[in-house]
Amino acid sequence: MKYNIGISGATGVTGEVTLRVLTERKFPVRTLRLFASERSAGQTLRWNGDDHVVEALDDGNFKGLDLVISATSASLAREFAPRMVDAGAIVIDQSSAFRLDSDVPLVVPEINAAALAEHRGIVAGPNCTTAVAVMAVAPLHQRFGVETVISSSYQAISGKGRDGMAEFLDTSALAVRQGEALRGHESLDVPTPTQFPHVPAFNLFPQCEEFRVGEDTSTEEEKMQGEMRKMLSAPSLDVHATAVRVPVLVGHTVSLALTLTRAASQDDARQALAAFPGLRVLDEPWTKTYPTPLAAAGIDDVLVGRVRRIPFTKNGLSVFASGDNLRKGNALNAIQVAELLLGIERRA
Ligand SMILES: NC(=O)c1ccc[n+]([C@@H]2O[C@H](COP(=O)([O-])OP(=O)(O)OC[C@H]3O[C@@H](n4cnc5c(N)ncnc54)[C@H](OP(=O)(O)O)[C@@H]3O)[C@@H](O)[C@H]2O)c1
Repeated sequence: MKYNIGISGATGVTGEVTLRVLTERKFPVRTLRLFASERSAGQTLRWNGDDHVVEALDDGNFKGLDLVISATSASLAREFAPRMVDAGAIVIDQSSAFRLDSDVPLVVPEINAAALAEHRGIVAGPNCTTAVAVMAVAPLHQRFGVETVISSSYQAISGKGRDGMAEFLDTSALAVRQGEALRGHESLDVPTPTQFPHVPAFNLFPQCEEFRVGEDTSTEEEKMQGEMRKMLSAPSLDVHATAVRVPVLVGHTVSLALTLTRAASQDDARQALAAFPGLRVLDEPWTKTYPTPLAAAGIDDVLVGRVRRIPFTKNGLSVFASGDNLRKGNALNAIQVAELLLGIERRA
C-alpha cells in the first residue's frame, strides 16, 4: 500500500532532511505534495528523480492527503494542522504548538509508541534537544527510575533553521580571515547577527530562543521538563536545563546529571543504555571514544557515553549524549511515527 504524503515547510532544513529520510527508508509514497510560503510557491524540489512543485500553504488545499509532516513555525501549525485534519490527514507536527496538549500524543517511538493509539489526528514530535536527552534518560528511567535531571545542552546552529545556518556559515567565512580579532587583539568585523543574539561564529552563548523580560529561564529551557515528564509518564520528574548555542552546524549534545531512585553501577547503566534501540554507547574516553556532534550528524542513532557515577550525591549518575537534531531530533522521529501510524513494515 502507498500513501499520499504532504510536507509542510518543505523548503526548510527539516523539509530537506525529511525528503532524504523518506528516500532512505523507502517510504511507500504514492503522491508527494510540498507546502511552503507564497515566496516559494511554484518552485520545484527534486525528490527520487522527479520534480515536485511547491504549493502555498495558504491555499489550504489539503484534500486527499493521508499524512502530513508539518515543519513550520508553531503559529502556522496552530492555524493549518487542524485544517489538514479536517481534510482527512493525520498530521505529525514538529513545532512546539501541540506538544503539551493533553489530547495530542508527544511521541518518540522507542519510548512511548503506545501513546499513538490515543491520537485524534495530530501527533507531536519533541523539541530537538529534548529528543536527544530523553533517548539517554529513558532506559535509565525504565530500569532505575530518574528523579531529577540537570541538563546542559550544546545546541547546533541548524536548530535555528535554514536562515540560521546561512548566517553562521557567512559569518564564519568572514571571521576565519580575522585571526588577530579571533585571538582577542582586535574587534571582529562581521555584520550584526539577525538570527542569533550574538555572533555565532567562534563563539557560544547561553541563549537558545527567547528570555521573557525579567525571566531567568529561556523558552527553550522551559520545554525540556514538560516534554520529558509527558514522554516518560513521570509527572514529578524535575529538570533544570541550561541551553547553550555552540558553533557546530548539525548535532545537539547534552551533558546530563541525574539522580536515580535505585543505585546503578557504571556497568549496569551502560548495559541499560546499550540494550535500548536507537542508542549507541561510545564510552572509552582513554581511546578518545565518546559522543561528538560531528560523529552523530547524518546518522540515526543517538550516541551516549561518559557514563559516570557522581560520588558525592546519592544515586547520582552523569551521561553525555550527541544526536542529529535534524534526524532523531526531528525528521527521522517523525517518519518513524508515520511508519507506526500507517502500519508500515520497514523495508531494507
Ligand atoms: N531545525 C531543527 O533542528 C528542528 C528540530 C525539531 C523541530 N524543529 C521545528 O520544526 C519547524 C521548522 O524548523 P526548520 O528548522 O526546518 O525551519 P526553516 O529551515 O526555517 O524552514 C521553515 C519552513 O517554514 C516555511 N514557512 C515560513 N513562513 C511560512 C509561511 N508564512 N507560510 C508557509 N510556510 C512558511 C518556510 O518556507 P519558505 O522557504 O517559503 O520561507 C520553510 O519551508 C519549527 O517549528 C522548528 O521549531 C526544528
